[in-house]
Amino acid sequence: MGMYIVGMAGASGAPYAKRVLQGLLAAGHEVKCVISDAGRRVLEVEENLLLTGNTETDHPDVIEWLNSPSAGGQLELLHHKDVAASIASGSFHTDGMAVVPCSGGTLGRIANGVSSGLLERAADVCLKERRKLILVTRETPLSVIHLRNMTAVTEAGAIVLPGSPGYYHQPKSVQDLVDMIAARILAHLGVESNMLKKWTGPEPATYAETD
Ligand SMILES: Cc1cc2nc3c(=O)[nH]c(=O)nc-3n(C[C@H](O)[C@H](O)[C@H](O)COP(=O)(O)O)c2cc1C
Repeated sequence: MGMYIVGMAGASGAPYAKRVLQGLLAAGHEVKCVISDAGRRVLEVEENLLLTGNTETDHPDVIEWLNSPSAGGQLELLHHKDVAASIASGSFHTDGMAVVPCSGGTLGRIANGVSSGLLERAADVCLKERRKLILVTRETPLSVIHLRNMTAVTEAGAIVLPGSPGYYHQPKSVQDLVDMIAARILAHLGVESNMLKKWTGPEPATYAETD
């Protein structure tokens, strides 16, 4: 089974992270998860999940939030200041990393090689080792600084996958929208999920002759 990293920064979009974590764990993969301070704040606001930053005591709360009781052994929480953790080294093999959600601040630090914490360092390692790195940015509108940073990370090998779902699947709920993005993230990590029906084209259209 695979080894993946999920970084959660302080952008809006915690439900995407929840679904990606659920998808990775359900597929039997191991996950190392790093949450920035602002990421914890967003989890509180968007998911009513109150974490302290103590990875040991937060672990059961995260497992309960994910509603994946059997995933306890597969998910490891790492502190964002623990730059000596396994994933800070290229010698520790991983199959890829998603930063979901990815704030403008974290995007900027990754784009400029500013590895000030474990999340950015792990992303830097993915880039230097030519491993998959997916940045699920969420900001609107975008400044030229965001756009330049997106170009820089793309040139370095990352995939910018904005948390902006489409509507052509005729979503019936917010969860459908969340799943559309989560499924795309998982697909880019090479992980199968049944969250999204593949688009095979529209129903045959009837085109009216106008003249
Ligand atoms: C509830 C909430 C929502 C936020 N949403 C966004 C967002 O969508 N995009 C963004 O770039 N920053 C957003 N921010 C601001 C970032 O959290 C802030 O810039 C923070 O310093 C980012 O830190 P980090 O990159 O270390 O996680 C949000 C903050 C809060 C509290």
